[in-house]
Amino acid sequence: MADMDGIKDGKDFGLDRPQDKEGFIIKGNAHYDWGLKNRLSRLFNPKTGRTVMLAFDHGYLQGPTSGLERIDLSIVPLIEHADVLMCTRGILRATIPPTINVPIALRATAGSSVLTELSNEAVSVDIDDAIRLGACAMASQIYIGAEYEHKSIMNVSKLINEGQRYGIPTLAVTGVGKEMARDERYFSLATRIAAEIGAHYVKSYFVEEGFERICAGCPVPIVIAGGKKLPELEALEMAYKAIDQGAAGVDMGRNIFQADDPVAMIQAVSHVVHTLEAPEKALQMYNDLKGGN
Ligand code: 5RP
Repeated sequence: MADMDGIKDGKDFGLDRPQDKEGFIIKGNAHYDWGLKNRLSRLFNPKTGRTVMLAFDHGYLQGPTSGLERIDLSIVPLIEHADVLMCTRGILRATIPPTINVPIALRATAGSSVLTELSNEAVSVDIDDAIRLGACAMASQIYIGAEYEHKSIMNVSKLINEGQRYGIPTLAVTGVGKEMARDERYFSLATRIAAEIGAHYVKSYFVEEGFERICAGCPVPIVIAGGKKLPELEALEMAYKAIDQGAAGVDMGRNIFQADDPVAMIQAVSHVVHTLEAPEKALQMYNDLKGGN
């Protein structure tokens, strides 16, 4: 029986001993079946074990976000530089050419908006439709500590159960309620719970303090959200630090599609993620590419 009084913060994260991947480059996913591992190998570059997911699912909560007013104009030119596209099925069918060969992480929940309680979501996409769309992953928010925490955990669990039947991995997105601290304690808790319920990989925010321990304590890969728009160098620094401290990639939206030059920015981010390029050099690359489209 869990006893709140007896909980102590973890101390031994074995930071000098990386988790054994048992012959499969994607951490914590060695024991799954061929189809699921094949989809993971499309989501994560099998050479680097890392990924640049381009997130543009923001509209499902907040309507036509700046930079996403016309996805056919702003996002389609970025597709060739992304490893994965993360979006809703509505945007996928309406604006993304079916001829692309970039895997899709499908936002599979809905039920709230920025005007209401964000955590009050439900699974909104049937597994049949995810398969029909050729989804490589399904994604759902896990809102630890929020009003609808239980419902959100059950949403992720439902996707995992259904995805397991067909070899489709689930990305659990740690959603942070308006009142919650974005710190090591919170993301350690949320990412570990997501992995324990069976998520194949987890999205977190980067935090300056303790991110390495968050990654070490989560037995499956972590990808970071970009969060609000930062100056380009700061966004590249955040990506660098996250990868250096154990993240397996980014699931980045605003810091790419709201950049002065999104096509240049996604290439610079990709360089950092896959080669651990120094942020200053990646910024130089961004500046060299800028305006060249
Ligand atoms: C929203 C999401 C977004 O995909 C996520 O926030 C990534 O975008 P950004 O880098 O702009 O934060 O999961 O629910």
